[in-house]
Amino acid sequence: MKMNTWDDYYTRKARKEGYPARSVYKLEEIQKRCSVLRRGSKVLDLGCCPGAWLQFASRAVGRTGLIVGVDIIELKNPMPSNVRFVCADALTIKERVPEELGGRFDTILSDMAPKTSGNKFVDTQRSLALCGAALDLCAACLKPKGAFVCKLFFGDGFDEFTKVIKEQFKKVKLIRPKSTRKASREIYVIAKRG
Ligand SMILES: C[S@@+](CC[C@H](N)C(=O)[O-])C[C@H]1O[C@@H](n2cnc3c(N)ncnc32)[C@H](O)[C@@H]1O
Repeated sequence: MKMNTWDDYYTRKARKEGYPARSVYKLEEIQKRCSVLRRGSKVLDLGCCPGAWLQFASRAVGRTGLIVGVDIIELKNPMPSNVRFVCADALTIKERVPEELGGRFDTILSDMAPKTSGNKFVDTQRSLALCGAALDLCAACLKPKGAFVCKLFFGDGFDEFTKVIKEQFKKVKLIRPKSTRKASREIYVIAKRG
């Protein structure tokens, strides 16, 4: 029987543990290494569908915390009661902040990924635009001691973006989680203000 290369160890593990995506193990590793989610925290999750990070973060912050998920597509999976969903484009949502998103956040997560075109340069630029939008939201609604987690891709603009992050945050770390697919150019920036 031919094995589907996308149906790998982490995909099967996610299915078994009830998560809608294998991406949950990236956030799990980031949390283990950097403690970006705390009990009672208020978290903004940009590009939250299908909802694996929402589920993980919901458990990490507990009943006294709140997760606001944002995505351009509708969230179809049922979520715990401390999760709120806003269907919106992160590139234009800034004008609706903080009213619509509900104030300031302890942590802003961005696992946003653009639709790939097959052109490496175009895709990297689109991804950078999403990272820029996430960073703008940090300026608008991240608490003074807040944490920011952002997925970005190696390529043109990578060094410039990480330089800007280093200017705006006190501690910055780059992590490529073990569960990242080998062929992927993605990497996560973990940045803390406090
Ligand atoms: C890799 S998935 C995120 C997976 C998610 N972290 C999880 O664990 O289920 C990337 C998401 O980014 C969303 N996205 C892409 N562009 C966006 C935009 N401009 N605004 C909001 N979400 C966007 C996509 O719709 C997609 O659902």
